[in-house]
Amino acid sequence: MKQLTENQLLDNWNKLLQLVEDTFEGERKEKLLEMYKFFEDRMIVAPASGKEEYHYCYAGGYVNHVLHVVETALEVSKTYEKVGGYKDWTDEELIFSALHHDLGKVGDLTAEYYIPQDNDWRRKTLGEVFTHNTEIDNMRVTDRALFILQHFGVKVNLKETLAIKVSDGLYDEANTYYMKVFDASRSLKNHMPYIIHWADHMATQAEFDEWKREDEDNKEEMESRLSNIKNISIGKKEKKPKQKHNDKVMESKHQDLFDELFGDNS
Ligand SMILES: [Fe+2]
Repeated sequence: MKQLTENQLLDNWNKLLQLVEDTFEGERKEKLLEMYKFFEDRMIVAPASGKEEYHYCYAGGYVNHVLHVVETALEVSKTYEKVGGYKDWTDEELIFSALHHDLGKVGDLTAEYYIPQDNDWRRKTLGEVFTHNTEIDNMRVTDRALFILQHFGVKVNLKETLAIKVSDGLYDEANTYYMKVFDASRSLKNHMPYIIHWADHMATQAEFDEWKREDEDNKEEMESRLSNIKNISIGKKEKKPKQKHNDKVMESKHQDLFDELFGDNS
């Protein structure tokens, strides 16, 4: 698994905060900075996914991924115009949507969404580095993103709401309501949601390629692990021990993750 150094984690975090400073203004910026302050400890080490073969599955992967999607969305938006598309959104709206499309992956107000997988078999055989925290409410990542933004009083306009809501495209069946529409009068009135979905999808595929390249030296081992993962059939779900939601548990979980990653350097 890729491991970022503490300096790399902090550099990426500062890049994200700088992007917020440079892109937004007034009350929206103020509220966003409050939100980022609240999630700081958790967000810096959050992964973007839970399985090794998925995208940016390592501590710090979340921040890396959203920055990557912002960069990709700006490029996709330019390409869309270049090939004849009509750009009916501002760069601020585009950056806002890209930056927050996965916000629900940091968890809710009390606890994180991904927690380290402590089952050795699942880690080794299924490549599950992180697992979902079943202690928090079951919600779509994008629904939780919109909940968090409204909790912190961040104004989200209609274009941004739709772009965040359908950012998983047709990978989320619920999005067929918005994206698989055969009556033109009901189709999306602006195409920024497509740009965000294409950018997220493209960035995710590129992140997978990056992971494969990094593991070139361990190619054989990786290929056999991938084929194990593809062929495995999973039986009963294992019960996870109950965890309490309190600050002490949260602090100790973050500390455990840091200790695991950085040992004496943390
Ligand atoms: Fe994403």
